[in-house]
Amino acid sequence: MKKGKLIYEGKAKKLYQTDNPGLVIQEFKDDATAFDATKRGTITDKGVCNNKISTHLFGVLETQGIPTHFVRLLNEREMLVQRLEIIPVEVTIRNVVAGGMAKSLGLQEGKELHSPILEYHYKNDALHDPLFNEYHILAMELATEEELKTIAKYSFEVNRILLEFFDQCGLKLVDFKLEFGRHKDKILLGDEISPDTCRLWDKTTNKKLDKDRFRRDLGDIEEAYQEVLKRVCERSRV
Ligand code: TMP
Ligand code: ASP
Repeated sequence: MKKGKLIYEGKAKKLYQTDNPGLVIQEFKDDATAFDATKRGTITDKGVCNNKISTHLFGVLETQGIPTHFVRLLNEREMLVQRLEIIPVEVTIRNVVAGGMAKSLGLQEGKELHSPILEYHYKNDALHDPLFNEYHILAMELATEEELKTIAKYSFEVNRILLEFFDQCGLKLVDFKLEFGRHKDKILLGDEISPDTCRLWDKTTNKKLDKDRFRRDLGDIEEAYQEVLKRVCERSRV
């Protein structure tokens, strides 16, 4: 697969054209940002870990019927994906109180929720990805009612599948963020699924094994990403 022109550079990834207009190369960087990129750093080999972790997780989801943009792993830092028209909505699912929810609602981090919460955020860095709801999405014509129904259905299914998968890895899936896009007439899960986009706590010690180690200066950041990769790979081989 020939690597063509750079199409887009985000905070953690780059996208390149290929000789097939329907396919793009997604390259994972070691750059880390938090709090609207006011905090910046590098996590050594984060890109390599996230590329492999995402590959495993997209594989798990595909086998359980979730359509994703993943096509195949190309090398340590790159995967081939379907080109999507990204819907500018970030879907967050929460199983345990943490992060933004603990702050905005004044709740104790670590409290198990009675049922999972689905949140929508408008994907717009300049506006700091504000929380909004399905009425905003429909009124702003970001997605149709049918698309939104599909997105919510897939998101809860992803939660069910990944809760079980991570549990078998000895990890608690606290919360995570998904992005979806249009490919021909279908909705596909896009972006990545990694310790950058999920909160993952060790099941027995509650040790944070995700990007919160960077956000909160907790140390052992590289080790946390390697640990998640190791557990995900071991589980996938079973
Ligand atoms: P939050 O508690 O800060 O809203 O984050 C919820 C989840 O979404 C958490 O697993 C981290 C992930 N996330 C992203 O992937 N990108 C973002 O820009 C933010 C704010 C959160
Ligand atoms: N990556 C996001 C940013 O740079 C926020 C985060 O993940 O905390 O703003």
